[in-house]
Amino acid sequence: MANLTVNGKTNDVDADPNTPLLWVLREWIGMTGTKYGCGIGQCGACTVHIDSVATRSCVTPLSLAAGKQITTIEGLAQNGNLHPVQKAWLEHDVPQCGYCQSGMIMAVAALLKEKPKPSDADIDSAITNICRCGTFQQVRAAIHAAASA
Ligand code: FES
Ligand code: FES
Repeated sequence: MANLTVNGKTNDVDADPNTPLLWVLREWIGMTGTKYGCGIGQCGACTVHIDSVATRSCVTPLSLAAGKQITTIEGLAQNGNLHPVQKAWLEHDVPQCGYCQSGMIMAVAALLKEKPKPSDADIDSAITNICRCGTFQQVRAAIHAAASA
């Protein structure tokens, strides 16, 4: 039995310790905002925060997440207020199909926490999420907007 704290709520999860965190979040806890893309740590669709660090949950076993603070896209807004990254995403019409976007937003929120005013080079090295719709220019513009908010 693992103890998993997701968006401030503690859950007892009776799953194999090697189960990918992504499946625990989606199947055990019902947090389906976090998406499955590649399953091998490459695309970033499954990005969540573990103790504030952007982490690809498809390659993170439950055993490594237990006892830590996990935040998913469902927990990013606080007290009914969207996170600045979410606001910038809306203002810049970033999503197209939307599938990659929860992971993209979580990665960007972690970047801005670490580097509140990232350069283009910082963005290129930190945001390696893949978007099949090709929203990269909108993503860059929205990151700079969120950084100036
Ligand atoms: S689904 Fe996890 S990185 Fe692609
Ligand atoms: S918005 Fe469609 S994959 Fe990124």
